[in-house]
Amino acid sequence: GGEDPFAKALLSWYNENRRILPWREDPGPYHTWLSEIMLQQTRVEAVKGYYSRFLSALPEIADLANAEEEKVLKLWEGLGYYSRARNLQKAAKTIMTEYAGEMPKTFQELKKLPGIGEYTAAAIASIVYKEEIPALDGNLLRIFARLTSYPKVVLEPEGKKLAFSYFQEKMQGIDPGDFNQALMDLGSGVCLPKGEIGCKTCPLKAFCSSAKAGNPMDYPKLPEK
Ligand code: ADE
Repeated sequence: GGEDPFAKALLSWYNENRRILPWREDPGPYHTWLSEIMLQQTRVEAVKGYYSRFLSALPEIADLANAEEEKVLKLWEGLGYYSRARNLQKAAKTIMTEYAGEMPKTFQELKKLPGIGEYTAAAIASIVYKEEIPALDGNLLRIFARLTSYPKVVLEPEGKKLAFSYFQEKMQGIDPGDFNQALMDLGSGVCLPKGEIGCKTCPLKAFCSSAKAGNPMDYPKLPEK
């Protein structure tokens, strides 16, 4: 695999520029799941410390399932959005009782667990189980809108559907977890939402419609107020 020029450019950029993050060291199901839940509403730099502390206290899914709720909430203290912690533990209990202690391995099954929506299921399925599912967060949607000069609001269902097909086609034969995380890193370091856009160093510039037109900042289109 890896012959698609778009994917090749993206992945070789990622190999040179990938962020070193604790959950990328050992991307098993529990680690990846925990990190993605923490990252839902909290910035990477803030998550790092919480992530390590949480895993030291509760190293396995079974430990999380069996812990006092109070202990779990204490470990979450300062991260906010405590329903994330409650759902995490609820899902851990479900994994112990209904999945024999093993994280379900597909996008469709993952979505059934409390606290795991489309994005998180896609992230886990692609990073851990190599399922070819784009993890559409704000970064990927913005990148899609700029790559294609998407003329409508990309957050609408139609935009998401198109972005999903667009990236899914390009990730064929590539490590899907690397592909998704390369786009996340590109979105947080190069193809920025505002301020100085990094087109000069962007590995996807040759494939980018709005960069060619000289107006990447006009995308994504915002909803009418
Ligand atoms: N934000 C959410 N998940 C991430 C990941 N796996 N890598 C980098 N940033 C992220």
